[in-house]
Amino acid sequence: MASKVFVLLVAAFVAVAVEASLAPSARLRGGLRALVDDPECASKRQLTCSDCKTQVRCDKVGGVWFYLGTNTCGGTTPYCEPVNGTCTGDVSLVDDKCTEPEPVNTFNCPSDGYWPDVTNCAKYYICSDGKAYAYDCSSFGNAVYDHKSSSCLARSEATCVTLTCRSPGSFVAYNPDPSIYSFCRSTNSSEAAVLKCEEGRTFSTINNECQVACTKAGRIALADKKRFYDCVDLGNGRMSQPTPGRCPGTSEFNPSLGRCAEKGAPVVTTPAPRTTTRAPTTVP
Ligand SMILES: *[C@@H]1O[C@H](CO)[C@@H](O)[C@H](O)[C@H]1NC(C)=O
Ligand SMILES: *[C@@H]1O[C@H](CO)[C@@H](O)[C@H](O)[C@H]1NC(C)=O
Repeated sequence: MASKVFVLLVAAFVAVAVEASLAPSARLRGGLRALVDDPECASKRQLTCSDCKTQVRCDKVGGVWFYLGTNTCGGTTPYCEPVNGTCTGDVSLVDDKCTEPEPVNTFNCPSDGYWPDVTNCAKYYICSDGKAYAYDCSSFGNAVYDHKSSSCLARSEATCVTLTCRSPGSFVAYNPDPSIYSFCRSTNSSEAAVLKCEEGRTFSTINNECQVACTKAGRIALADKKRFYDCVDLGNGRMSQPTPGRCPGTSEFNPSLGRCAEKGAPVVTTPAPRTTTRAPTTVP
């Protein structure tokens, strides 16, 4: 009995001595049990990645691998590169899924597509499947978001447009795209809702509503299925005024065809032209 106690005491003393000889950081986890490699350090490397942005740090002390902790990559080196376990900003070194953008909840998508951040002219959103993804042109220096081209442009090429909410319940038009406007919930412009007029309409601040306007050539559908507006490209960047039209007889305006068609008529697809075997005549 006494010898058993003695053996236990010696074992405990040895364990404490080994424990004390370890570097302080190596004693963080496991304590006396850490006389085998920590499962977190099974790869027997000082740095590994546990996910796209988390480094796992290990160290070998007295022949045993100890877990030292994790470190989240960030700043200009936000990704954990899996070969050496170092933090990197080089997207080519990391798995494609690591650079997949994550949606934000700071913007309500009116519909899918590109949207300006009306409170910061360098920022914009891409809405996809109802989710908003945030982008910032200032990563290209002093660039601003240009809604016409849906891209970042130098400040000398594009104008910085920011909306200001002056009173709650008011509307503000967004000049670079007259079909976009904001509804101010308060005097805090960040809380304004971004909205878009229906196709073929622009926002009028005179009567605070979307009005039919020619922004491109074609016909604009109306609620009354017999009626439409015609828009003609007059050249040199000029558009005609919206000109009212009416579908004749029993035909109705078909928005997908962009013209009058018989109600319920099947969509006629033009057959492909027959190919001729005649050699094409070359034009000098
Ligand atoms: C990993 O480290 C080695 C040695 O320092 C280096 O040559 C290599 O480029 C590194 N690989 C990556 C992907 O960083
Ligand atoms: C304006 O609204 C935003 C978003 O709700 C909020 O984060 C910000 O603190 C507000 N600013 C002021 C000055 O109240």
